[in-house]
Amino acid sequence: MSSTRTRLAVAAAAALALAVPLAVGNADAATTHTAAPAGSAAAPADTTYTAAQVLAGVQQNSTAANKVNSKPHINTMTRAQNVNVYQVASGVYAYSSGMAIDTDGSDSDPDPDHQGETTWEDSNGQALGAHHVPFYVLGDDCWDRTTPCPHFYYKEHGMSGRQFALMFYNGKVIGSIFGDTQTANSQTTSDNDSRELGEASVKAAQLLGIPSSGTTGGVDNGVTVVMFSGSSWVVNGTNSNLNDHAQALVQTALNSLGASMAGTTPPTSPPPGGTLFEAETGTLSAGGTFDSNHLGYTGTAFANPANATGAYVDIPVAAATAGTKTVSIRYSDGTTAARPATISVNGASQGTLNFPTTADWDTWATASVSVPLKAGANTIRIAGATANGPANIDSVTVSQ
Ligand code: GCU
Repeated sequence: MSSTRTRLAVAAAAALALAVPLAVGNADAATTHTAAPAGSAAAPADTTYTAAQVLAGVQQNSTAANKVNSKPHINTMTRAQNVNVYQVASGVYAYSSGMAIDTDGSDSDPDPDHQGETTWEDSNGQALGAHHVPFYVLGDDCWDRTTPCPHFYYKEHGMSGRQFALMFYNGKVIGSIFGDTQTANSQTTSDNDSRELGEASVKAAQLLGIPSSGTTGGVDNGVTVVMFSGSSWVVNGTNSNLNDHAQALVQTALNSLGASMAGTTPPTSPPPGGTLFEAETGTLSAGGTFDSNHLGYTGTAFANPANATGAYVDIPVAAATAGTKTVSIRYSDGTTAARPATISVNGASQGTLNFPTTADWDTWATASVSVPLKAGANTIRIAGATANGPANIDSVTVSQ
């Protein structure tokens, strides 16, 4: 599905008139950023966090209790009304959606919907160039015209133009800035909707390995945008160096957010403790394959069982003693629907275990169940309970 944004020039002009004044004087200063996100000033600056660790922490903190919006946003690509924004740390807001491609601004583009303006400008007052600057798009106003807004509305959360965000997709992370808006809901001739989330510039797509054409590019799901509020996270610069300035902030932002989440959530999902048995030592029902085309698996491969009810992977495990053991299954489900599966031990069903979605196919989580094992060799079967089949299965760990 392509993005055919029709943004009226008057909308951009109106948005500019509303723009919060920014201290943007020096185009050479990358940012006024000086500290960790608001509320986490004590975060140690010398702890290095990886993108995978921080993304895992973001996902763990994307809970109902942390949800900011009371009405769901619209995924710009799929139109599904299932996108939520979560406050994952003090002053830090995250959502996952698809990515439609915004071609707007000072760079030329063959997209027939290309507009010369972007809502926000570079530090020299030029429209941002979608081919040079990785930027993301938010709603221009509050659709419901109420306060507080039932949707995430940036002005209520200490955000303005060129606000820094980390964008995660398919094992990659980039820095980006708030660059353009979905047209205000007073613009009735537009097919944009200020409730939408899930649009970013050509450059952001290119950096993340997403098809970047304004008419045929984009991706339906799996892009996580983590926005850092507050004036210290406004990125300064021109169309020629804003990308460099945004990328220069990535590790700082990872470390800052990782540290601020560390007290409440372990931002990591390694294989659990116990004795580990790799899925690739097992066998698959018809149509399944052992694959290595996604990142983060252990051993030499992971199991990709067929997409069918009852499709399974059998994994041999050993137990030193007979008894009830905890079996933790490391899996990935990069779709938008959970993959419940029936767990059997030596042919006897132990019931259905849920396997909730993960951010993408490179992100691994564990689902655990207590089952009786006999001393010596056992076989764990994970069989899909829906027509989608089981999740991708990396390993099984047996502990007391
Ligand atoms: C994708 C993904 C596979 C996965 C499959 C599925 O094709 O790349 O690893 O197994 O979806 O839906 O099960």
